[in-house]
Amino acid sequence: MTVLLIRNARIARPDGSNFDGDLLARDGRIERIGAGIDAHADETIDARGQLLLPGVIDPQVHFREPGKEYKEDLGTGSRAAVKGGVTSFLEMPNTDPPTVSQAALDDKLVRAAGKCVANYGFFIGATTDNLEELNRAQPVCGIKIFMGASTGSLLVDRPEDLERIFADGTRLIAVHAEDEARIRERRARFQDRTDPAAHSEIRDNLCALKATELALRLSKKYHRRLHILHLSTKEEVELLRRDKPAWVTAEAIPNHLFLNVDDYAGQGTLVQMNPPIRTKEDNAALWAGLRDGTIDFIATDHAPHTLEEKRRPYPQSPAGMPGVETSLPLMLTAMAEGRCTLEEIQKWMCWGPAAAYGIPNKGKILEGWDADLTLVDMQTRRAVRNEELFTKVKWSPFAGRELTGWPIYTIVGGRVAYDRGRIREDVRGKALRFVIGDR
Ligand code: DOR
Repeated sequence: MTVLLIRNARIARPDGSNFDGDLLARDGRIERIGAGIDAHADETIDARGQLLLPGVIDPQVHFREPGKEYKEDLGTGSRAAVKGGVTSFLEMPNTDPPTVSQAALDDKLVRAAGKCVANYGFFIGATTDNLEELNRAQPVCGIKIFMGASTGSLLVDRPEDLERIFADGTRLIAVHAEDEARIRERRARFQDRTDPAAHSEIRDNLCALKATELALRLSKKYHRRLHILHLSTKEEVELLRRDKPAWVTAEAIPNHLFLNVDDYAGQGTLVQMNPPIRTKEDNAALWAGLRDGTIDFIATDHAPHTLEEKRRPYPQSPAGMPGVETSLPLMLTAMAEGRCTLEEIQKWMCWGPAAAYGIPNKGKILEGWDADLTLVDMQTRRAVRNEELFTKVKWSPFAGRELTGWPIYTIVGGRVAYDRGRIREDVRGKALRFVIGDR
């Protein structure tokens, strides 16, 4: 039995209001919230001056295990997660081997149980011939389809293969929406360009829009639960604002909210990712899409590659950036600047992803709900420093940025997993359950 008492915190309510009070967690659940709670506890935290939030759910990360553990593994990825206030993550199937079968999924679950300090769930990856596994594998948060090729070998780009997957089954389908044919044609056309900014021209806005249009068409035809990963363009926001059935959700990632093509000048291939960073106008459209509900929530697409790999000349450089431990401070800084509210932070980063993937009992600070929490310091401004990061690759495209809202403690299942710069190594996360994702 573990009892944790957090005293004198500014506690966030789901509606964005807050109050000064105490929270008692017993055996992984929030037992009581109130003022002046007096109970025996195994551990008491004095949280005066700190903001208590529900633990963040990051619904898109790449933790590279098995196969590319030199970049990240489930242990280091989960430690970076809790440092960033993330208590649950959904991990992508483009590992090596890819997660395309029950056996590969079971392997990840066993590895995660042994080393993750945050709660974990996994996608199963679509190939052109694993339809039965896609619909049967358990437990999964959804099916991931790479409609355009990115890191790893997964790709389903022929419309007839996509149609078969959408037609058969009811599970959530999450798409990396970029049109492979257009990428190939433009890559050939731009083959003389070796400047990293070419990446955003090759994989242009129309690449993303075309694939999102196709996924939306198939989702409507078969009434199939669809999630569009890392929406990046103004055109996609406009499309979904006009035409977004109730069974479709979409996400944005901090890279597409806080970076744009101007960053190639200073950071070059470090900011190369798929789908690419776009213009300031796209940044603004994504913020507007979040605010009006066209975009449902935020993920990070944490996609670590070593600095050595990233510094290769374009186009030999790999696409992707780490992000799991900077997303909450970035968003809380935006909140401090008046760009969003405490209610939106919780909707976009806590209960929104939980609702979309059917993760019960997480994402709100309520009695009876899971005690996954993060206590953040909203007073201090601190720069992102590469050497302080927990991700194995030890770099961030946000290095040097001054941010407000760094986690001080992160609590997973009622136990402190991250404690002022250190990991409590005896804590383990649990496999997440998906109530609607597995219909
Ligand atoms: O830039 C990216 N990197 N986009 C993806 O879709 C995959 C990711 C990775 O795994 O490196």
